[in-house]
Amino acid sequence: MQDALHIPVALDRCIALLSPAIESSSNPVVVDATLGMGGHTRALLLKYPQLKVIALDRDLSAIDIATTNLSDVSDRVVIVHAVYDELDLVLAKLGISEVDGILFDLGVSSMQLDQAERGFAYSQDAPLDMRMDQSSGPTALDILSTYSYGELVRVIRNYGEEKFATKIADNVIKAREAGTLRTTKDLAEIVKNSIPAPARRTGGNPAKRTFQALRIEVNQELAVLERAMPQAISAIRIGGRLVVMSYQSLEDKIVKKALSEVVASHSPLGLPFDLPNSAASYKLVINGSEGATVAEIEINARAQSMRLRALERVAA
Ligand SMILES: C[S@@+](CC[C@H](N)C(=O)[O-])C[C@H]1O[C@@H](n2cnc3c(N)ncnc32)[C@H](O)[C@@H]1O
Repeated sequence: MQDALHIPVALDRCIALLSPAIESSSNPVVVDATLGMGGHTRALLLKYPQLKVIALDRDLSAIDIATTNLSDVSDRVVIVHAVYDELDLVLAKLGISEVDGILFDLGVSSMQLDQAERGFAYSQDAPLDMRMDQSSGPTALDILSTYSYGELVRVIRNYGEEKFATKIADNVIKAREAGTLRTTKDLAEIVKNSIPAPARRTGGNPAKRTFQALRIEVNQELAVLERAMPQAISAIRIGGRLVVMSYQSLEDKIVKKALSEVVASHSPLGLPFDLPNSAASYKLVINGSEGATVAEIEINARAQSMRLRALERVAA
């Protein structure tokens, strides 16, 4: 298996959360909306010999690696190159109207971060690409080279939650006019020089927030997630489960909102009972969200920021 160092996050917990839905189905089907290197999919397929997985990823190189990693179970997995907001379309094309479980393990994979040339990592010098799907769409450099000052401030402030967004945007414009903004190292240097020295000394590498912001903009991550959640929620059958792992608060907020909306009763607020046919069709499997265990964080740093949420459909 390629990348032996890759450890799927909260693997046992995800399997335990999906298990009741898989075990109560005679012909179980699960969607892995974020295949990556196939760690979660592989473990599910090995545990459940009757399970089929529909696996999506927008990254062709992840699909190549996962195809190799899943070669011994390839008869039970359908791998589709797609963005997960195309879930409805993918299921319709396969003639599937509902599934038993759906798993989202959001964000970039350790493989994408490790491939320096992808431009996701501020610690390695590379072209400013940051596209999860390198076959289409603008790169981070396209955005940095063409966005107005106001658009750059919006992206860096909103998606990076960066206090010094105006200064960074200002310095990006100066550098692009001087022709000195080409690589991840150039950008990391611009960010560093835009942040006052005392602020630089806290909160880790100052480039982290700006890189996160650009990655979100390049891949339209939040808009795609907002469109995908309702599709996933309505694709699970009664008794089916949706499990989502987020790694930053902006994503988690979207997931939390989508789940809370469907677990709320349709009765007018304040009534001491539910009106007929107004009870919610979904219930939360986890009240609020869960993080990884201390033991897992010790061996897998990526698990540190993970928030896990899960939902079950209880009625049509
Ligand atoms: C954290 S990794 C998943 C790791 C996987 N669970 C494993 O065990 O190997 C996230 C994967 O989701 C993919 N991805 C992220 N956003 C996506 C989207 N909107 N549509 C489809 N795939 C996406 C990324 O390309 C990446 O390969």
